[in-house]
Amino acid sequence: MKILVIGGSGFLSSVAVAILLERGHQVTTFTRGRSGERPTTTANLIRLTGDRHDPAALQNALLAGPFDAVYDFIAYEPAESRLAAKTFHGRVGRFIHCSTISVYLVSDQVTCPITEEQDKAPLMPFWERNPFGMTYGINKRACEEILWQAHDERQFPVSMLRPTFISGPHDPAKRDFFWIERINDGGPLLVPGHGEFLFQSVYVEDAARAFTDLLEAENSIGKAYNVAAEEILSLNDYLHLLARLMGRDIRFVHLDQELFDRLPFSRHPGGDVFPFNTRRDATFSLEEISRDLGYHTTPIAQWLATTIDWFTTHYNGHSTGYEARAQELAVIQKIDEDRSPL
Ligand SMILES: NC(=O)c1ccc[n+]([C@@H]2O[C@H](COP(=O)([O-])OP(=O)(O)OC[C@H]3O[C@@H](n4cnc5c(N)ncnc54)[C@H](OP(=O)(O)O)[C@@H]3O)[C@@H](O)[C@H]2O)c1
Repeated sequence: MKILVIGGSGFLSSVAVAILLERGHQVTTFTRGRSGERPTTTANLIRLTGDRHDPAALQNALLAGPFDAVYDFIAYEPAESRLAAKTFHGRVGRFIHCSTISVYLVSDQVTCPITEEQDKAPLMPFWERNPFGMTYGINKRACEEILWQAHDERQFPVSMLRPTFISGPHDPAKRDFFWIERINDGGPLLVPGHGEFLFQSVYVEDAARAFTDLLEAENSIGKAYNVAAEEILSLNDYLHLLARLMGRDIRFVHLDQELFDRLPFSRHPGGDVFPFNTRRDATFSLEEISRDLGYHTTPIAQWLATTIDWFTTHYNGHSTGYEARAQELAVIQKIDEDRSPL
């Protein structure tokens, strides 16, 4: 098939492009050409340069077609999906939109495992500390609404995937590395809350494969699918697993969530800190994707080992908030002192 990918050089989209190429598709990517692209040696790949906000540039991309399918990996704002629906309506056989499980987790009322039809539950009051991103989730919902409307009113051939936290080598959010770096330094870990809420993340290769498998699932037009690992963990389970894979014996110190939230380093302008502290159970039904796509995921111990290896051998920087590590350790010392018998 001939496929246009809006994005194609990011964490998730570059892996999806590699799989599409492996499967023999002809791929055209569309980015501004600013971010480093990982090398590839195939004749089946064309890289176009343009800004997705520029209607003429998107129209120009169509000249490289006709395309059987378009992937939109990078719609974050409703205006972006509006322009995409307008540009590609009647011009492509399929339109695959990258959404997120955050569309559910901006609601107060969700029932776990969260099923796909829970996407329109009423929004919670604005909560800046929403661990799934409040503004992000609201905007991704608005993108979806525009695309569903185009589907319902004009038969726009959209399908959506809603991945949970994506993990793996090159992860720009460095969520796993937050904990890997702290386990590596040997100090105890400060864990927000009781650490027992359940969550699922997903390996980038599994998520990217779901995007490519969707192409072959004809009955998936007009449908959305959750994308998550089959294994469900609590933050405590996850940290034990990570420490075991790293061969480290680490002490965890839990701190009541409300007290934790008062700590200056409990949030960070650079992004998510103390990741996978979901503050409520956040598990996802995989029934639909298993049935329609034959979806199965890589064992978490396997891909976490790969992720640990990549970050410890290839990544030179620090995790988000690591500059406050000494303050984390000071809080742990204070907790220890308060607990010690007189
Ligand atoms: N990471 C997660 O945990 C997670 C979880 C759930 C869902 N998601 C979803 O996954 C998607 C992100 O995928 P990704 O990681 O592959 O993408 P990405 O890293 O956000 O970006 C992909 C590429 O798009 C290009 N780009 C950015 N702005 C552009 C513009 N205005 N015009 C044209 N190209 C532009 C960038 O290259 P240039 O700079 O060269 O333009 C970038 O390399 C999003 O839809 C997000 O909501 C992510």
